[in-house]
Amino acid sequence: MILDDGVNPPQRPEDVDPKPYRRAFEAIVARDDIELIGMWAGDELIGQLQLTVTPNLTLGGATRGLIEGVRVRGDLRGRGLGTQLMTYAIARAKSKGCRLVELTTRRPQAARLYERLGFCQTHQGFKYHVQSDAFEA
Ligand SMILES: CC(C)(COP(=O)(O)OP(=O)(O)OC[C@H]1O[C@@H](n2cnc3c(N)ncnc32)[C@H](O)[C@@H]1OP(=O)(O)O)[C@@H](O)C(=O)NCCC(=O)NCCS
Repeated sequence: MILDDGVNPPQRPEDVDPKPYRRAFEAIVARDDIELIGMWAGDELIGQLQLTVTPNLTLGGATRGLIEGVRVRGDLRGRGLGTQLMTYAIARAKSKGCRLVELTTRRPQAARLYERLGFCQTHQGFKYHVQSDAFEA
């Protein structure tokens, strides 16, 4: 299940082709260096993100964590859950040997949350869309 991101128009389940998502999910769970972290209320998914841990030849060989796809369920935003989820992900990255945690966002509200957590803006982000029909990510 993927939570709505609050920007792209919500799609009806019947309009979404599940196959590419399933393929991506299966590829992710087969790898040890990527974790899908979910926040649950009972059996309901209320928050999620993806954490990728990558060894790196720069910065003295520092392992890095990359956080992507941060989502809290729409009706539960603004109550501290995103902060809890991110705090957990940072601790998890640290426990897996990361010396740095990185992410990108183009959403000013989300940027405020990340800055409050101690992230600082360093680089200019670029993306190259290999396919012309790629999503705006
Ligand atoms: C960003 C997001 C994960 C934060 O989760 P959250 O549970 O609302 O976060 P918290 O309650 O811990 O913190 C609230 C802060 O989140 C940020 N925020 C971003 N979008 C928000 C939203 N739609 N509603 C409320 N807060 C939001 C704000 O900085 C807010 O703090 P503020 O009081 O300074 O405005 C969540 O709002 C969300 O899923 N948004 C849609 C998807 C998205 O933007 N993901 C990030 C992409 S990089």
